[in-house]
Amino acid sequence: MENQYILAIETSCDETAAAVIQNGTKIVSNIVASQIESHKRFGGVVPEIASRHHVEQVTIVIEEALAEAQLQPSDLAAVAITEGPGLVGALLIGINAAKAFAWAHQLPIVGVHHIAGHIYANALVQPMEFPLLALVVSGGHTELVYMKEHGHFELIGETRDDAAGEAYDKVARVLNLPYPGGPHIDRLAHEAEEAVAFPRVWLEEDSYDFSFSGLKSAVINYKHNMDQRGEEFIAAHVAKGFQDSVVEVLTTKALRAAREYNVKQVIAAGGVAANQGLRTALEQAFKQEDIPFYVPPLKLCTDNAAMIGAAGAKMYEAGVRGSMMMNGRPGMEL
Ligand code: KG4
Ligand code: ZN
Repeated sequence: MENQYILAIETSCDETAAAVIQNGTKIVSNIVASQIESHKRFGGVVPEIASRHHVEQVTIVIEEALAEAQLQPSDLAAVAITEGPGLVGALLIGINAAKAFAWAHQLPIVGVHHIAGHIYANALVQPMEFPLLALVVSGGHTELVYMKEHGHFELIGETRDDAAGEAYDKVARVLNLPYPGGPHIDRLAHEAEEAVAFPRVWLEEDSYDFSFSGLKSAVINYKHNMDQRGEEFIAAHVAKGFQDSVVEVLTTKALRAAREYNVKQVIAAGGVAANQGLRTALEQAFKQEDIPFYVPPLKLCTDNAAMIGAAGAKMYEAGVRGSMMMNGRPGMEL
């Protein structure tokens, strides 16, 4: 069989990324230009700054991805692009770059959902087996997704307020840790020997939904009370208390869903899946249950274009073709 190469582009948030994927499962090149340094001093992603960086970087990362793959545009089968959800200005830069490239080289484009991308990051590591449960935890999403087969996504639970990563980043701010806070809290939690007791939010008994804003408020109140009393508190103990609560709720709900839906495989995806505490808890829980559990390497958990290429390749094979009228879809549904 002749090799199929897909060029993928991702600009939905604060990473400008391009990759080349071979036959849907092999990474040939994977370039990520991070903007984190530019957003750090604002404590979060500033949409206007993100767009400006994407404009500067997008052509460069595309050229690098092709150069590293040692391929010409004529070797490609299609261009996969993140169509949504995300920041509208940021999405549009990638989409316009993808459309221009595809038009110039007479290639089809395929619009990919960012979360489908996070889930398909796993296809770059080992074959996906269905039915499957995906726990998607990122800066913008906290979702439990049931997949009966390729391209079929059933949302069985989601956050009702803050995403897990968003809660991490906000709690990190309270603790004066740099943005993005997730990795810093993760590290502190591991150093801690004690944990402050924070609540677990389970919602209704049978619900697969999540809520993290109450936990975030509990951390803020804790700090406020300690400050008022003029008492010192240990940031690592707060970090561990917060992380223990997030990890316990995510793991318990994922385990219950995996049992109820009788899945053959569970995968974790998204930036927060880089969390060591969460990875360990999920690995242990599913090992006990004898359900295969996978999480991609750290580099494929956070935003990248390789995952968009993996999802795009499956869609391309299924005959999906995007239009040259494609627009950014900030609120795109899975
Ligand atoms: O998937 P991602 O790169 O971007 C979105 O699509 O949102 O996820 C970014 C999020 C940030 O909130 C960041 O703090 C969090 O992932 N994150 C972590 C860790 N590494 C990244 N959260 C907890 N522990 C980590 N080790
Ligand atoms: Zn993401």
